[in-house]
Amino acid sequence: MKRRTAGSPNRKRPNPEIKSRSNGFGKQPMRPLFRWVGGKQHLAHRLAEYVPSDLSDRLYREPFFGAGSLFFFIRPRRAVLSDLNSDLIHAYRFVREKPELVARYLSSHARNDSQNYYYDIREEYNYSAHFTAAQSARFLYLNRTCFNGIYRVNLDGDFNVPYGKKENPVFPDGAHVRAASTALRKAKLREGTFEVNLRGTSAGDFIYLDPPYPPLNGTSFFAHYTQDRFPVEEQERLADLVRKLDKTGALVLMSNADLPLIRRLYRGFNRMNLRVPRYVKTGKKKHAVDELIITNYEIQV
Ligand SMILES: C[S@@+](CC[C@H](N)C(=O)[O-])C[C@H]1O[C@@H](n2cnc3c(N)ncnc32)[C@H](O)[C@@H]1O
Repeated sequence: MKRRTAGSPNRKRPNPEIKSRSNGFGKQPMRPLFRWVGGKQHLAHRLAEYVPSDLSDRLYREPFFGAGSLFFFIRPRRAVLSDLNSDLIHAYRFVREKPELVARYLSSHARNDSQNYYYDIREEYNYSAHFTAAQSARFLYLNRTCFNGIYRVNLDGDFNVPYGKKENPVFPDGAHVRAASTALRKAKLREGTFEVNLRGTSAGDFIYLDPPYPPLNGTSFFAHYTQDRFPVEEQERLADLVRKLDKTGALVLMSNADLPLIRRLYRGFNRMNLRVPRYVKTGKKKHAVDELIITNYEIQV
């Protein structure tokens, strides 16, 4: 079946719910609010098959939240969601607390969208001292219209991604923002590193880990998510932590790149190649790398 994306020209206002699919957990799956580098929107239905079926008895933890494609697809009741990108987490908080206001500001940005307007809003975003519902809507507007949905800041911490010149940018409408607010109602939203936010994990918790990809063959393969990068040493620290979490009795599902480094770090865990290549551009070169699923529990798919 041809995958329809939120960006298809004939679908300017996609329904927040993915009608054609069931998520396997008795809820209607939802599209994420953001475009996100490394986002798993296209894979969420595949990943959901690997999630334990007794999820409703477990606390769902996602410390590399980004656009939260899997979370919005399965919509767990109790969750701890976190990311190093603090503006992203602030934006989610206002989506949850003030969905009507965020949607109203966003629809005004959507109506006014143009290259000049984008740069005005980018400046307002960078000069705003406080995070508010208006700032959350600016964040959403910039995300939907910037080049490739990248989040990148300069050394002063200013968001500096150029206008994306997309022909038909798609903006979440009121129904989508409200649905996201409902999905996030019982979630704890936290900013910070995966290490800090996985403290307090208990036996039985379910953790979905979707870290940035590691460097590929020494090429600069880092995604521009935040001021920080995710070098090999971070992948190693994450693998050490996963071994500790495994001993704690938590269930861990990870998506990562199918590279020798990652296979080596997770030796002894269940590892499955999803046969879904992802193309990542570094300079003028395109690299294809398959998605690898890693779990510390038996899976029957
Ligand atoms: C591959 S993206 C996650 C995409 C997400 N699963 C989705 O479907 O949209 C990785 C995320 O990790 C975050 N991140 C990077 N380094 C981190 C760290 N050290 N601790 C926590 N989050 C980090 C980035 O800000 C980014 O949002």
